[in-house]
Amino acid sequence: MARLWLCAAGAAVFLFCLLLHSRFCGCPVSRKFAFQFSWRKEEVFYRLDLGWPKYSEYFTGVTFCVAVDSLNGLVYVAQRGDNIPKVLVFTDDGYFLRAWNYTVDTPHGMFVSSTPHEQSVWITDVGSGSYGHTVKKYNSFGDLVQVLGTPGKKGTGLNPLQFDNPAELYVEDTGDIYIVDGDGGLNNRLVKLSQDFMILWLRGENGSGPAKFNIPHSVTLDSDGRVWVADRGNKRLQVFDKDTGEWIGAWSNCFTEEGPSSVRFTPNGKYLVVTQLNLSRLSILAAPPVGSIGDCSVVSTIQLADQVLPHLLEVDRKTGAIYVAEIGAKQVQKYVPWYNHVPAFLV
Ligand SMILES: *[C@@H]1O[C@H](CO)[C@@H](O)[C@H](O)[C@H]1NC(C)=O
Ligand SMILES: *[C@@H]1O[C@H](CO)[C@@H](O)[C@H](O)[C@H]1NC(C)=O
Ligand SMILES: *[C@@H]1O[C@H](CO)[C@@H](O)[C@H](O)[C@H]1NC(C)=O
Repeated sequence: MARLWLCAAGAAVFLFCLLLHSRFCGCPVSRKFAFQFSWRKEEVFYRLDLGWPKYSEYFTGVTFCVAVDSLNGLVYVAQRGDNIPKVLVFTDDGYFLRAWNYTVDTPHGMFVSSTPHEQSVWITDVGSGSYGHTVKKYNSFGDLVQVLGTPGKKGTGLNPLQFDNPAELYVEDTGDIYIVDGDGGLNNRLVKLSQDFMILWLRGENGSGPAKFNIPHSVTLDSDGRVWVADRGNKRLQVFDKDTGEWIGAWSNCFTEEGPSSVRFTPNGKYLVVTQLNLSRLSILAAPPVGSIGDCSVVSTIQLADQVLPHLLEVDRKTGAIYVAEIGAKQVQKYVPWYNHVPAFLV
C-alpha cells in the first residue's frame, strides 16, 4: 500500500512539474505546445520533449524542414530568412553543434541519407536566386557535393532535368532517389532517379485523377515497396509501386478538411505520421497490409495550438522520435513515443 501511495505521489509531482514547466517556461521564444490526444485502442502515445533543443534561440528564421541522421544521432533544421544561417545542426539530445548557409537560398524540404562511410544532407531549394530550383546534396559540414536541376532556372525539362519549386525527396539505402516537384509551380510530378541520377520513371501532371497531382508536397517509402506521396492540393495520399511507378491507390477519407503536408512512417512500419498545416494537427494513421491499401484510418491526433503550422516532419528511424518543423511557431519540436507507459488512470 505504501508503495502505491509513493507511486501516486510521484506521478502527481511529475504532472505538476509538466504543468509548471508549461506555464512558467519563460523561454525567450514563445514555445507553443498545447496539444491533446484523442485516444483509441492503440498503444502508441507521444509526448513533447521540452528539453529539445536545449536552447531555442538558434531558431532565427522560419523553420521549414527537419531531417534526422539516426546513425549518428544528428538532427538538421533548415530555416528561411535574411542574413541568417540556413542550416542548423543539433544532436538528437538537443545540443547545437554548427550552422551553415553556403549556396542555400530558400530551403523547402530535406532528407539525410547516412551510411557508415558517408553522411549526406539533401535539400530542395525553391529560391529564385542563383542556387534556386535545385535539389542539392551536402556533407554534414555544408560542403556542396551534388546539384540536380538547373541552378537559378525553373523549368519542365527532363534532359537536363529541371525543377520548379521541388518540394521534398526521399533517398533509399540503394541510392535511388524519389523527388516530388513541386510546391506549386510548373510541375506536378514524382520522379524516380537512379543513384547515378538517370530517370527511372516519372509520374504525374497537374490534375485530380489517379496519378495526377496538385502540389505533391512530401514523399516517403514503406517496407513493402510502396511510394507514398502527400498530394496536398488534392487532399489525399497517393501510393505507387516503387519499381514500376504503377499507381496503387489513394487515401482521401482522412483529409476532408485539409490535405496532408508531410508523410512519414514509424520505424516499425505500423503507422504513418502526417501533418496538416493550417489545421495545426499531426495525425497517426494505421498503415495498411501488403498489397491494396484499403481505406485510411486515424489512430490518434496531436492537436497543436492555433497558428503553429506544422509543415514537414521527420521520424528518427532508430528511436521513433518525431521532429516537426513549424513555420508559424518558427521552431522545431520533438515528440517522443511513450509506449504503454501511461498509468491506467490517465487514459
Ligand atoms: C550566413 O550566416 C551568417 C551567420 O552564420 C550570416 O552572418 C550571413 O549573413 C549569412 N549569409 C546569408 C547569405 O544569409
Ligand atoms: C492544377 O489543377 C487544379 C485542379 O485539379 C487547379 O486548381 C490548378 O489551378 C492547376 N494548376 C496548374 C498550375 O495548372
Ligand atoms: C493555408 O492557408 C493559407 C492562407 O489562408 C493558404 O494560402 C494556403 O493555401 C493554405 N494551405 C493549405 C495546405 O491548405
